[in-house]
Amino acid sequence: MKRCNTLLLVNASHPMPAAAAPELAALDRRWPEVTLERRAAGLLRACVRAVGGQGAIRPVSGWRSREEQQAIWDATLDREGEEFTRKYVARPGCSEHQTGLAIDLGEEMEEIDFIRPAFPEDGVCGAFRRQAAQYGFILRYPAGKEAVTGIAHEPWHFRYVGVPHAGVMAELGLTLEEYLALLRRDYARRPLCLRSGPYAFQIQSYSGEEDLPAAPLPAGTYRQVSEDNCGGFVVTTWR
Ligand code: DAL
Ligand code: ZN
Repeated sequence: MKRCNTLLLVNASHPMPAAAAPELAALDRRWPEVTLERRAAGLLRACVRAVGGQGAIRPVSGWRSREEQQAIWDATLDREGEEFTRKYVARPGCSEHQTGLAIDLGEEMEEIDFIRPAFPEDGVCGAFRRQAAQYGFILRYPAGKEAVTGIAHEPWHFRYVGVPHAGVMAELGLTLEEYLALLRRDYARRPLCLRSGPYAFQIQSYSGEEDLPAAPLPAGTYRQVSEDNCGGFVVTTWR
């Protein structure tokens, strides 16, 4: 069965696994160096367009290699010191920017802070926040969850986790750490069932390769298997 990494958890205690480089796409012709995994890139562009954010929302930092993360860590440490760096920069090897599924967004202005771009709560940025889950994006480092994520509140950092997961996390106020823990605890024996638009989804956690469902799917039913980087998998089925 084909695997994806949409729900891959990457943090200080879950380093980025050795993986094939994601297929990347630029987000905006004006900043070709800012790339994201192809599907996430398409959905981010669609969300920015939906809120009329072209020209007002700038993609600041997307996919990073481990080497790039190391360079950002070193430069920030040099300039801002250790306390600041630990709050706002993930350790090299432990940044979800390395997945190609994380994006820092900034409000367009002359000078944009690369580490902490301004991305306000109101205006077009606020509209993006309200729509993001519909396109599969979550605010990855919310205020009040610093002890869970290990990172300070980052109003500019969004992570693609896909639909319907982003909607569930937004509605329940869960970080990716908390969402995966909830699935492992309550939805390993039976699926979480929900409806979203015309679709009926089932989400279930599997602890290992050998447990994954093997039965062929009925016509008109689809399945996505994502590694969780916690040793297991999340299987999403919809029709
Ligand atoms: N700013 C986030 C935590 C990173 O460096 O990946
Ligand atoms: Zn970021």
